Amino acid sequence: SQKAEGKAHGKVILIGEHSVVYDKPAIAIPFPVVNVTATIEENYTANHSIYINSKYYDGLLINAPEELSGIKACVEETFYLLNAKPKNICITISSTIPSGRGLGSSAAVAHAIVRAIFNHFDASLSKDIQMHLVQIAETHAHGNPSGIDMEATYSDAPIWFQKGKKTKALEIGSPLHLIVADSGRFGDTKTAVESIRSLYLKHPGPTRSSIDLLGEYTVECAHSLSTGDLHRIGELMNLAQIELTKLGVSDDRLEQFIQVARKNDALGAKLTGGGRGGCILALAENEQHAISLSHALKEAGAPRTWTSRLDG
Ligand code: PMV
Repeated sequence: SQKAEGKAHGKVILIGEHSVVYDKPAIAIPFPVVNVTATIEENYTANHSIYINSKYYDGLLINAPEELSGIKACVEETFYLLNAKPKNICITISSTIPSGRGLGSSAAVAHAIVRAIFNHFDASLSKDIQMHLVQIAETHAHGNPSGIDMEATYSDAPIWFQKGKKTKALEIGSPLHLIVADSGRFGDTKTAVESIRSLYLKHPGPTRSSIDLLGEYTVECAHSLSTGDLHRIGELMNLAQIELTKLGVSDDRLEQFIQVARKNDALGAKLTGGGRGGCILALAENEQHAISLSHALKEAGAPRTWTSRLDG
C-alpha cells in the first residue's frame, strides 16, 4: 500500500506571549529541531473508518479520547472538504514535540495531519484552507487561542503576529542561537490565559501597563532583530520576563532556570509560551555558548534542552 506523508515543525515565542491575547503583536520563531510527521496508510485493518496511531492513543478515531477531540473534528472537516469517504485509513502520528510545553505541539500535529490527508488524495492545499482546518483543532485544544501557534508552526521564517492582521515574515540581521529548556512540567496555557483575565478584572491598571509594556518591547525587538542587535534582544527578553512574572505566569522552576541561564552569560532568558510550567528560552552569543548553556541547564535539572540556530 502507498503512504502519504505530512510534516510540520515546532515553534517558540520570542516575545509577546499573553499580551498577544490583548491584540498586541508577538514574535514567534520556527523551531524545527522538534517536529511531527503524519503518515497515512490505506488498506489497514480498520474497516471503512479512520484509525489513529499515536503515542497517546491507538484506535478508531471515532472512539478517540477527549484530548483528541480537536484532531477528530479537524480530520472530519478535512474529509468533508475533500468530499472523500474514509476507507480503511490509518493515520500514524510520530512527534518529537513534547506536548504542553509551549512548543506548538497541537498546531503542528494538526498541520502534519492535514498535509498528509491532502497528499493522500493528491489534492492541492492553500494556506487559507490549511489554516481553517488547523484552527478547528486549535479551538478544541485551547478554547480561544490567538492563532499564533498555527501561524508559527506553518512559517519557515520568524513571524510578526497580531490577531486579525496578516502575519508577516521578519528579516533577521544576524543569526540567533537559541536554547530551550524544559521545566519538565506541563504548562496549562488555557489556565494561564484565564488567570491573566481574572487579574485584569481585579487590578486593571497594573495589568494593562504590563500588557502595554510587553507590546512596546515586542515592537522594539522586531527592530533589534532586523539590525541584528543581539544584546538588545536579550535585554528585551529579560524585561518581558519581569512583566510576565508580574502577570503571574512564571513559576519557581522557570525562574530558577532563567537565573541559571543568566549566570552563564545568556544574553537574555524568559519563559516561552503559556508559562506556569512549560519551557524557558535563552539567547546565546554563538553556537559554543549555546552548547555550554544547554549543559548548565541540564545540570540544574532540566530534563531536556534543545538548541537551534536561526539564520536570516
Ligand atoms: O501555546 P503556547 O503555550 O505557546 O501559548 C500561546 C501563547 C499565548 O499568548 C500564551 C496564548 C495565545 O493564545 O496566544
